[in-house]
Amino acid sequence: MLRHFLTLTDFSETELRGLLACAKRCKRERGYGRRTLTGKTVALVFQKPSMRTRVAFEVAVLQLGGAVVYLGQEDIQLGQREPIKDVARVLSRYVDGIVVRTFAHRDAEEFARHASCPVINGLSDLVHPCQALADLFTMEECFHRLKGLTLCYVGDGNNVLHSLLEGCAMFGVHAAVASPPGYRPDGSIWKSVGRRAKAHGASIRWDEDPKNAARGADVLYTDVWVSMGQERERAKRLRAFRPYQLSRVLLQHAKPGCRIMHCLPAHRGEEITDEVMESPQSLILAQAENRLHAQKALLLMLLARGNR
Ligand code: CP
Ligand code: NVA
Repeated sequence: MLRHFLTLTDFSETELRGLLACAKRCKRERGYGRRTLTGKTVALVFQKPSMRTRVAFEVAVLQLGGAVVYLGQEDIQLGQREPIKDVARVLSRYVDGIVVRTFAHRDAEEFARHASCPVINGLSDLVHPCQALADLFTMEECFHRLKGLTLCYVGDGNNVLHSLLEGCAMFGVHAAVASPPGYRPDGSIWKSVGRRAKAHGASIRWDEDPKNAARGADVLYTDVWVSMGQERERAKRLRAFRPYQLSRVLLQHAKPGCRIMHCLPAHRGEEITDEVMESPQSLILAQAENRLHAQKALLLMLLARGNR
């Protein structure tokens, strides 16, 4: 059956567990799956810039023996030069898997609807499931468990947070979110995450005050205040988010030894201080490295067994 990975919830908890286990193996045994994608090609169709997602996918495909075609916004002009459904159908006849990075999430959905090979969401305005996969992997690697941990996210209720919340809920991680009231996570995602969390014995809560939210946190997580595509709102956002900086002061309200996470790219002096980023408590570079192992596991699951 043709499978896509547009949101974390497209996969069952069992499948995600399998992915985490496979990512662990990929990290431990560097040559694991070496020739699994021989003769296969993966296209990357990106409407926005990227370092981690792009390079991690390109390197993962190459290490698995496959080939990559990168198509930036200038090449494809998705939805402008020709309709998404034509791009999806034509590309599917050339390649074996497609990673898309879009603005509107419905564009990623539309792409997947018309593709005849697996489509992976490499970030949309709504979600960032590949990031969450690596984040769960990183937390499990650090704490040797996920269930019962407490993660506090401070900042914008954005794509990265949405997928992270879905992941926390599915793995029984308690989540606390602090954001300005006007920048809370998407209402329907929040509701479904709440239901999922409850079913897994976890809680989710929101607080306007980052210090309250940080209490008892094993992990403090943040992301940029101005996401790609929101550049015109920059001045307004910087004002609204100023009290939400991940700093040493905020760290003192979390558990002693609390770990720091950030999906990168980071804007030091905005959502996080340089001191916190560089502190020994930071998992940020492991998180970035783990994109490679997690995405390799994803490729193995979706492409290695001839999922077409
Ligand atoms: N974290 C992340 O997705 O980084 P890029 O935008 O560089 O891919
Ligand atoms: N929220 C950020 C994440 C970048 C990886 C953005 O969408 O720009």
